[in-house]
Amino acid sequence: MSLSFTGKVAVVTGAGAGLGRSHAKYFAEHGAKVVVNDLGGSVAGTGGSAKAADQVVNEITDAGGIAVANYDSVASEEGGANIIKTAVDHFGGIDILINNAGNVRDKSFRKMDLNDFTALIDVHLMGAVYCTKAAWPIMLEQRYGRIVHTTSAAGLFGTHGHTNYSSAKIALVGFMNALKQEGTSKNVLVNCVAPMALTRMTEEVMSPKLAPKMKPEYVTALMGWLCSEENTLAGEIIEAGMGYYSKVQISEAPGYIFKGDEVPSAEQIGEHWREISDMTGALPYSGADDLIRAVFGKLKSVS
Ligand code: NAI
Repeated sequence: MSLSFTGKVAVVTGAGAGLGRSHAKYFAEHGAKVVVNDLGGSVAGTGGSAKAADQVVNEITDAGGIAVANYDSVASEEGGANIIKTAVDHFGGIDILINNAGNVRDKSFRKMDLNDFTALIDVHLMGAVYCTKAAWPIMLEQRYGRIVHTTSAAGLFGTHGHTNYSSAKIALVGFMNALKQEGTSKNVLVNCVAPMALTRMTEEVMSPKLAPKMKPEYVTALMGWLCSEENTLAGEIIEAGMGYYSKVQISEAPGYIFKGDEVPSAEQIGEHWREISDMTGALPYSGADDLIRAVFGKLKSVS
């Protein structure tokens, strides 16, 4: 199997450094025309410069690829719209959107200024929403699209000092779960990737010794697969890095049903905690409707 993106147009946000740079270069090397978006700020998302995106565009074009820079911040509706417009104006459309742009402002919740909370929601969650909103009608209309949101283990499982970041990152999973209900039948597939890579964002917490093993390219290979025509899955969450690829799943336990019409007491809930929380036989559901149907089925079976 050899994947080709010839004829496809890819937008990668935050592609001026780290993972995004690697993704943009991959799609260009494999034939796509690429919009390299980056506002070129600090790791906290402050400041800005055209240099970051220009540098990556130069690397791509020097290697014989096709790319154009865009310097908008993803964190505004106009910015998101203009990023997608750049793809349409230069390359005639959009087929692939990698929502990758991100920043960090770590602090314990007690000490966190709420502006640093909303700033991260604006970039990670709303940035993905604004770009997707602009790309979505085009993808639905052409009945083809591949979108990947960049989530994080910090959101899926939690980390100290990351309430802002973790909240934004797990929100992307909810965004994907609902979007997939609207896009999958039209071949617009939305997935999430949780990367592990050594970049400027993680260099303070990762040992430089890990650099060769933590190359962004390990994550990029997964982006390639998820954004290919060959992939038909949506709603996946995949942890990726260092040669490790693993599906993450939200699943619901079989649960416990109190029989009869009496509302159980708090004490009774406590008494049955073991059954309520026993994950043996837990199931993922393809949507909330499926879950609700399953719950009604269980209730009927015991009544
Ligand atoms: P990075 O700091 O090297 O790259 C992020 C890029 O996004 C930067 O070039 C930055 O200028 C750009 N950016 C930031 N705010 C922007 C905005 N408002 N509009 C446009 N561009 C903006 O960091 P890295 O590691 O490459 O991160 C990429 C994504 O992966 C982020 O969403 C990050 O949260 C996520 N991630 C990374 C992990 C890792 O191990 N490196 C772990 C989990 C998630």
